[in-house]
Amino acid sequence: MTARVPAKVNLQLSVGPPRGDGYHDLVTVFHAVSLFDEVTVRPAERTSVAVTGEDSASVPANRANLAARAARALAAASMRRRGKSGVRIEIRKRIPVAAGLAGGSADAAATLVACNELWGTGLSQAELREVAASVGSDVPFALVGGTAIGQGRGEQLTAALTAGTYHWVLAFSAGGLSTPDVYAACDRLRARAADRQETGTGAGETGATGTGAADSAAGAGGPGGAGPVPPPRLSTELMAALRSGDPAAVGPLLSNDLQPAAVSLRPDLRRALNAGRDHGALGAIVSGSGPTCAFLAADARRARELAVSLTGAGVCRAVVQVKGPAAGATLIAAERG
Ligand code: C5P
Repeated sequence: MTARVPAKVNLQLSVGPPRGDGYHDLVTVFHAVSLFDEVTVRPAERTSVAVTGEDSASVPANRANLAARAARALAAASMRRRGKSGVRIEIRKRIPVAAGLAGGSADAAATLVACNELWGTGLSQAELREVAASVGSDVPFALVGGTAIGQGRGEQLTAALTAGTYHWVLAFSAGGLSTPDVYAACDRLRARAADRQETGTGAGETGATGTGAADSAAGAGGPGGAGPVPPPRLSTELMAALRSGDPAAVGPLLSNDLQPAAVSLRPDLRRALNAGRDHGALGAIVSGSGPTCAFLAADARRARELAVSLTGAGVCRAVVQVKGPAAGATLIAAERG
């Protein structure tokens, strides 16, 4: 069984204070884009993972691999007998690793869809989504795709009403960023900003990079400066813009509370974001925990021009042109052996 699964960008990522369990409450707007990994599963004595393609050397091909964990979680949830739950998982990667595009979560979601079919588990979509949430916060969204609002850790999904197709350029960075490291840096920046506020040294440097709307929710207390970190909040302005289908309205409303943290860990991202804006992007944002930058263009032609300009500017490792929303994890082939 082979499934195809999209990468995601976050059109909004509003991050609350840290929770007791090491996670942060979020409100996020997930948007699946047309950059796909493919995962094939075949019955095998023991579960194994083989990875080819983009960044394949940096994907753990062992039990810790998210796809292998997804297969085990599905076997447990569907009470599959031990001797019958081995699969060989082949992942063909185009989504870069540790890039803020949820590539590992995508592979886990594709594995769930493919194993679910291979084993005929009979689990409902809702049950499958629950298994997905146990594997990782972004895995349920990779199952459903499209554009959706995520809450809780990001695993509680509501479909979002949107119109039109959005054209993006993704700028890949050399090297990745660890998601826990970026969340930790976000907490640090916010704590520092709150300290400064308390000691009266001003809230001028809340960790914001001053590169636009996406950075404005940077410091403690989100927009408006330091103070206790407020609960995450959905941008109703962004939702209205998405319903209108007008990329020029959506672009300035893209926001990511993790962006200042990602930029603090990788200051070179600022150059990429500025280059995108200088070359006409309607919105420029770090995707999720980064380091991939996502640029919104008015249409396919302008996205192509932007991709060429960004390549010429030498501010990233590679660029791809994609569109969204894309469908979630989908079976694309079944071989009967
Ligand atoms: O759920 P997942 O395993 O993808 O999360 C990876 C890490 O990202 C967590 O261990 C946590 O450090 C961070 N995270 C978070 N709050 C979220 C989602 C992820 O702090 N809502």
